[in-house]
Amino acid sequence: MMVCEYKPGLEGIPAAQSGISYVDGQKGLLEYRGIRIEELAEKSTFLETAYLLIWGELPTTEELAAFEDEILHHRRIKYRIRDMMKSFPESGHPMDALQASAAALGLFYSRRDLDNPVYIRDAVVRLLATIPTMVAAFQLMRKGNDPVRPNDDLDYAANFLYMLNEKEPDPLAARIFDVCLILHAEHTMNASTFSARVTASTLTDPYAVVASAVGTLGGPLHGGANEEVILMLEEIGSVENVRPYLEDRLQRKAKIMGFGHRVYKVKDPRATILQNLAEKLFAKFGHDKYYDIALELERIVEEKLSQKGIYPNVDFYSGLVYRKLGIPTDLFTPIFAIARVAGWLAHWKEQLEENRIFRPTQVYNGRHGIAYAPIDQR
Ligand code: ACO
Repeated sequence: MMVCEYKPGLEGIPAAQSGISYVDGQKGLLEYRGIRIEELAEKSTFLETAYLLIWGELPTTEELAAFEDEILHHRRIKYRIRDMMKSFPESGHPMDALQASAAALGLFYSRRDLDNPVYIRDAVVRLLATIPTMVAAFQLMRKGNDPVRPNDDLDYAANFLYMLNEKEPDPLAARIFDVCLILHAEHTMNASTFSARVTASTLTDPYAVVASAVGTLGGPLHGGANEEVILMLEEIGSVENVRPYLEDRLQRKAKIMGFGHRVYKVKDPRATILQNLAEKLFAKFGHDKYYDIALELERIVEEKLSQKGIYPNVDFYSGLVYRKLGIPTDLFTPIFAIARVAGWLAHWKEQLEENRIFRPTQVYNGRHGIAYAPIDQR
């Protein structure tokens, strides 16, 4: 067997061949199935983008209408899932609630028929349709309220905001939210996608695949950073405090949340789009003082860390957009998950098409030949 050099974090090691998305971290380029993210953000919708990612081509008018219709008719969650979620502690993190609920879907749809395209499509529809309902339901139930039923007159993004806030959203807010979902839908072989593919490679059910990916996305070094960014901006508190805050953190070798990326060595193209969206929201619904703090932070981080290729990543401006949409901070990462389900499912499908179970190796650095010591002699 060929022996490879151990790379912490598997940096630079291909874990799969994939035709789903492409990143050029030097040029700041991101494509889904060959189409630039800027173009999708301007012209597509989240459901059309999800279709593109999962089935590889943009849908025709009829294909898109059929897909949207199927999603629309699968948005409700079973009352047993709702009742199970009611018993979750309201102090629990919504990502944990989402992981448990996504896994619980597997109890209700336990049949596994991975070679059947109809089974694959049903699972795709069910997961895309119900995950937003589960996120909104937990939000209302932890406040002691009943969840709101999906509204069949509203599209995917508008319906989520409706279920969350119990009122129909402003059309600009709904469109901007939909664009946020497009931007977060897929991003090559990141930690949660790797989790999804490892789990998929065992030929388990797609609910376990998504649940494992949700668990991985939640950490602060991955999707959880969007939440940490807002907490950091609140802690900084004023534009004047940005420089002392930053210098103190850098001196302590602490990371600045929302900055840096394993692949991008320039500003993440999604951060640029999100920043523009945030400005549109501020123009319509009023300014946010944390945006001024964020701009100053970006300026000083560039001054101090650009030589290391540290620039804003996708998580830096997304929180400011969600804040302006009235979304609570601890729902930012579940919203990331709502979008990323599209990418995880595309990878699930791709993994099944040419599956081999993941079974990497390790570099053993432990001891050998140790005698077993009886308990009274240790
Ligand atoms: N703030 C300050 N310094 C940083 C940052 C940061 N955010 N990110 C990287 N660096 C520095 C490191 O200290 C290190 O410096 P050194 O070589 O002098 O020791 C160098 O840049 C390389 O950093 P690593 O941590 O080795 O880079 P890695 O590729 O392993 O990590 C990661 C990438 C996890 C994204 C990192 O940049 C980070 O922790 N950022 C903050 C958390 C964050 O925003 N995560 C969201 C990422 S996007 C996403 O997952 C959706």
